[in-house]
Amino acid sequence: MSLGNWSQKYSVNNAIIDEQHKRLMHILFRMELMVNRGKQTDDMVQLLTEMSDYAKEHFKSEERYMERIHYPQLEKHKELHSNYAIQVLQFTLAHLDEAKDNPREVLNFLTHWWTDHILKVDMDYSKHAEKQFVAKL
Ligand SMILES: [Fe+2]
Repeated sequence: MSLGNWSQKYSVNNAIIDEQHKRLMHILFRMELMVNRGKQTDDMVQLLTEMSDYAKEHFKSEERYMERIHYPQLEKHKELHSNYAIQVLQFTLAHLDEAKDNPREVLNFLTHWWTDHILKVDMDYSKHAEKQFVAKL
C-alpha cells in the first residue's frame, strides 16, 4: 500500500494532527518513489532526516494534545514515540554506512509503523477525546 493518499480513515478528529500526519505520509510517498527508482543513499539520508525532524515536531504536538485531554495512556504512547525515534536514527546511521543499508526494508518499516500507529495507537486517544467531549455535553 502507498501512504501517498491520505483518507478519512486516518483522521483522529484533530485538524492540526491530521495535517501533520498528511505531511508525514507525503514524505513517505516521496521515499517510496525514490526507492522504486533505485538506490540513492544521499537522498535517502536526506529524507530520513526530514522525516525524523518533522516527526519530532509532530510527536511534541501530539503529546501536548494528549496531556490536554488527560489521556490515561500518555506515558505508554510517549515511549512508542521515543522507540520510533531510536529506530529511525539507527536506519539513518545504517544509510551513512552504505554496506548495511537496505532502503526497501526502511520504507517497509516506516510504512507499517505509521499505518499501524495512526490506525491503532493514535485512534485510541481520538476515541478518548470524543468520550470526554460527549461527557461534557
Ligand atoms: Fe502517536
